[in-house]
Order: sequence, then structure tokens, then C-alpha cells
Amino acid sequence: VAPVARKQVVRALRRAWFPVARCADLERPRKITLLGDDLVVFRTAGGGYGVASNRCPHRGAGLDLGEVHGDAIACPYHGWQWRADGSCARIPSLGVDERIPPGVRVQTHPAEEAWGLVWTCLEAPVTPLPALPELEGLEWRYGHGEPIPVQAGIAAVTENFRDVAHFPFVHHATMGDLPEVVEPLDVRRDGIEVRMARPYLTHGGTGSAIWERQEPIVFHYHVVAPSFVCLLMDYGAGGKRILLNASTPHDAESSTIFWVEGVTSDFVGPSLEECIVLETQVYAEDTPILNSLRPREVPFGGEATEYSVAADRYTLAYRRAFLEFVARATGGLGMEEVPEVVRAAGG
Ligand code: FES
Ligand SMILES: [Fe+2]
Repeated sequence: VAPVARKQVVRALRRAWFPVARCADLERPRKITLLGDDLVVFRTAGGGYGVASNRCPHRGAGLDLGEVHGDAIACPYHGWQWRADGSCARIPSLGVDERIPPGVRVQTHPAEEAWGLVWTCLEAPVTPLPALPELEGLEWRYGHGEPIPVQAGIAAVTENFRDVAHFPFVHHATMGDLPEVVEPLDVRRDGIEVRMARPYLTHGGTGSAIWERQEPIVFHYHVVAPSFVCLLMDYGAGGKRILLNASTPHDAESSTIFWVEGVTSDFVGPSLEECIVLETQVYAEDTPILNSLRPREVPFGGEATEYSVAADRYTLAYRRAFLEFVARATGGLGMEEVPEVVRAAGG
């Protein structure tokens, strides 16, 4: 695949959906930086959500310091109120007979709720929010761990989340002695999505309640580029556990991982709350590794030398999916070099 300029990647990501807050954290408005844009996220009195520029267009104050009044967020400086559609609801300094000048608006973006997260997209979205057919008809409930800030780009973070060769090294303390040799991976890419099913060895020796089971566990990975992953863990008769992982780019080299942990009603094992604690430990093992990566993002532009082996098949398929997203969002990359379906079964 030809090198791709960092600028083109960033331009493409402006057309992707990313989580910007957990709904449960919106008792007050919150700010977040998405691809260099400073945003405020808020919940209206009616339960809707708004995502706006965090810069009040009157004199530039941060709206995240303001309060929500009804369906609008009020600027903390002079009290101008802004609705989620960008219109101005009130300018307190105007007399009762004066009208709000036409054309006064704050920049806003769509605000969609899914899995207890508020998602936004900065420019015309390339796709709808990710669809997960594997969860349809499943009775499951979910909760959230703390979002995790990482000093690495979203592609590097997403690669790590579904990389399997690092388990016996990075996750030895939580998962125990797992085999170092990676069997031929069955990887299937279809456009911007990549899937892989893999049995997880259950006898690592730690006795941890989610990583030690009598029944085999089958991990079903499903990535939707640029940075969303659904991991469905099938414990057979023991039910299912689900981990959704979405990394949000603050800029090209730093991100925050939003994650959702769920269990089906027939899951036999620790409570959902305990699963979140155990998963938090796993993420804590990955974070220092991610922060150490150089360059801090996948070198799509050929900025660094890397070597890949068979165990990296899924990573390489994911990179193609990512570049296909970039191509779709920006109108081309020379994608004829990227086959539509990459089959990497058989080593
Ligand atoms: S700066 Fe926001 S109301 Fe004046
Ligand atoms: Fe990991």
C-alpha cells in the first residue's frame, strides 16, 4: 500500500463517528478535543444531547463552564444561550423588545447516543454509526469503565486492542501463562470491516474469574474502521461477555479509549461490575506500552521501518480497512492495490 500523508488521514477522520462522552458523565457540560477541534458536549433538560464548538461566538468563552437551561447551554460570560441545532435562544443584554440578530449561530455537530455514549462526527459522515449484527437478539446489559487517555494515535490503539501475540507478555499478570506461538489466524476483511474468530486458551494459571474457565472461550473480533471494535466472548454454556472499544482522536498522536463492558443474562461468572474492574486491569497493562510506541501512530506515511510476521495478519488487514476508510472519505488513494477481501487463513 502506498504511503499516505498524515494530513489526508486527519481529513478523513473528520468524517468518522467517535464517542465524545459517556452519557452518565453529563450531569454538567463537558469539553473534549476531537481532531484539534475544542468541543462541548451537553444534555438538555429534555434528555437530548448537543455537541457544539466550545468557543462562544460572542467573545470566545468556554461553554463547558456554563449551565444548561432547558434545551440550550448558557455561556458563563454574558449568558447567551445556544441550542443543539446552533441557534441562539437568548441574549440577556437585549431588552425585551429587541430581537436576536439573524445569523448569530454557534457551530454544532450531530449528537447520537449509542451504548451509553454520545457520538459525533465533525463533517459529513461516510457511514452511519457502526452496526453490530452479532449483538442483535442478545439479551445483555452493559456498564462503562473510566475512559482511558493514551499518548498514541487511534490506529495504534485499535491494533493493540485486537492483537493476540502480546497476551503472554503484556497480560501475564492478569491472564497467566498463555502460549507464545500464534496459530494461523483466520482473518476476513470486507471493505472497512475485519473479522476474526479465535479460541482463547482458558488455563493460564491465574485463577482469574474471567480468564480461567472450564469451557473453552471463543473470541469473535469485529473491527469497523477507523477505530471501533466489538469483541464478543462466547463462554459456551456459560453465556457471553461483550467488550466494545472505541478510541477517539484528540489529535494525530493522542486519544481516549471509551469502552463498554456487557454480559448476557445467562453469563455464569463475575458480576458486570466485577468484570469492569478486571477489564480495567487489562487496559492498565496496555497503557504504558501504548504510551511508549514510536512513532505514536501507525506509520501510514512510511515514517518508520516495521517488520511483520504471520501473527500480524489481522493487524495488516485492519490497516487496509483503515486505509479504505481514508480513501472513501477523501476520494481515493489508489485502492486498486488493496484487495476487497483479504483471507489470511492457513498462515
Ligand atoms: S462570550 Fe459567551 S456570552 Fe459573551
Ligand atoms: Fe492488550
